[in-house]
Amino acid sequence: MARESFGSGFGVLVAMAGSAVGLGNLWRFPYLVGTNGGAAFIIIYLAFVLLLALPIMYSEFIIGRRSQANVFGAYKVLAPNTKWCNVGLVYVLASLCIISFYCVVGGWTLDYFWKALTFQFSTPDTALLGNMFNSTVTSSTEPLVFMLLFLLVTALIVMAGIKDGIERYTKVMMPILFVIVIIVAIRSVTLPGAAAGFEFLFRPDFSKVTAKTLVDALGQAFFSLSIGCGTIMTYASYVNKKENIVGLSVETAVADTLFAIIAGLAIMPAVFAFGISPSEGPGLVFITLPYIFGQIPLGAFLAIMFFFMLFIAALTSSISQLEVIVSYLIEEFKLGRKVSILASMAVVVTFGVLCSLSQGLLSHIQILGNNIFDCFDKFSSNILLPVGGFFAVIFVGWKMKKPDFTDEITSGGVHPFKRWFLTYVYFSIKYLAPVVVAVVLVSGLI
Ligand code: PHE
Repeated sequence: MARESFGSGFGVLVAMAGSAVGLGNLWRFPYLVGTNGGAAFIIIYLAFVLLLALPIMYSEFIIGRRSQANVFGAYKVLAPNTKWCNVGLVYVLASLCIISFYCVVGGWTLDYFWKALTFQFSTPDTALLGNMFNSTVTSSTEPLVFMLLFLLVTALIVMAGIKDGIERYTKVMMPILFVIVIIVAIRSVTLPGAAAGFEFLFRPDFSKVTAKTLVDALGQAFFSLSIGCGTIMTYASYVNKKENIVGLSVETAVADTLFAIIAGLAIMPAVFAFGISPSEGPGLVFITLPYIFGQIPLGAFLAIMFFFMLFIAALTSSISQLEVIVSYLIEEFKLGRKVSILASMAVVVTFGVLCSLSQGLLSHIQILGNNIFDCFDKFSSNILLPVGGFFAVIFVGWKMKKPDFTDEITSGGVHPFKRWFLTYVYFSIKYLAPVVVAVVLVSGLI
C-alpha cells in the first residue's frame, strides 16, 4: 500500500504550525514571561529559537523526509544495522509522556469552554474563580470526562489519516485560531491602563535574568516548537521531495513565535489593566482571564471565543503527538491505523487518568517533590525532549554524509541556497546546537 502524504505545501505548513502552536503558547508562555521578568525572557527565548531550535527542526525534517518512515524506522532506513533506531523509541516515549499530561489540560480547556458557554464567569471575585479552578481540576470525575472527550476528538482526527484528517482539519482550525487571538488581543490592548502591559512585554530588564530564566526559556523553546519528540520528523515523512525544508521550518518557527507574542498581547495588557500580578503562574489563563472577561463589555462573548481557541490550539498539537506513536505502531508492528490508535489510547488514557487524579485524589503520591502530572511534564520537557533533539542534530551532523545532508536540505537541488548559508546551517547542526542542548540537559538535570 502506498504511504500517505500531505496534499500541498500549505497543508504541511498549517499542520506543522498547528503542532507548534498550542497550550505552550497560550498557557505556558504567558506565565513563564510573567514569572521571569517579561521582555528579557522574550529576548532570550528568541535567541534560543534562532540558534538552537531551527537547527534541530532542520535535522528532524531531514531525517523524516529522507527516510519516509516513522521515527523508529527512519533511523533504521538511514543507519541500518546500528543502534540508532533506539533513538526513535525515545521519541515514542516522549510523545507518550507529553500527550498523557497534555490531554488533561486539553480537558480543562473543554471544561472551561463549557463554563464560558453557560456564563459561569460573571462573578467579580477572583477568590471564587480561584476556587472554581481548584475544584475543577481536583475533582475525580469532571476533568476525567472532559479529558476523555478531548482524546476522543484527537483520535477521530488521527483516524482519518494525514490528508483527510490532520491536514484537512488543521487547515480550517489554524486560521480561526489566528483570527480569535487577534480579536482578543485588540480588546486587551485597548483597555484603559493597558500600557503597563506593553512595557512589561517590550522593555527588557536584564537584572531579573537568572540561571532559571535560561533553563525555562530553553525548555519553552523545545516544548513550544514541538521539537525533540519526533513530531516534526513524523510529519516530514509525509512531505514530498520538492518542498523547501528550510522555508517550512522558518515559517513554522515564525508562526509559533508570532502567535506567542500576540498571545502575550492578548493577556498581559489586560492583566495589568486590572492590577493583577503577572506572576500568577499556571492559573493565569484559567483564573485571571475569566475574571477579566467578567469585567469588560462583550467579555462573555470573548470568553467563549478564548476557551474555544485554547481547545483548538491544544487539539492541533495533540494530534501530532498521537501520530508519532500511531505511525510507529502501524509500520513497525504492521497493525492497522484503527488498532494502533486503540492500542495507543489504552496507554494514554491510563496515564492521563493518573495525571488528572494527581491533582486531587492521588496528590499524596510524590516523586522527588512532584506529583504525577508534574513528573510527566518535567521528565518529558526537561529530559526527553533535549535528549531527542540532541540525537537528531548529532545524527545529521556526525553520522550522515555531508553530500546527503546537502542533497536533502536543498531538496535535491530544487531549492539551492547560498554557500555561506549552507555552511552556517551545517555548523549550527554539527557544533552549535549539540553544545547548547548538552548545557540545557545538564542544567535541567541539576
Ligand atoms: N508545541 C505544543 C504547544 O506549544 C506542544 C507539543 C510539544 C506538541 C511536543 C507536540 C510535541 O502546545
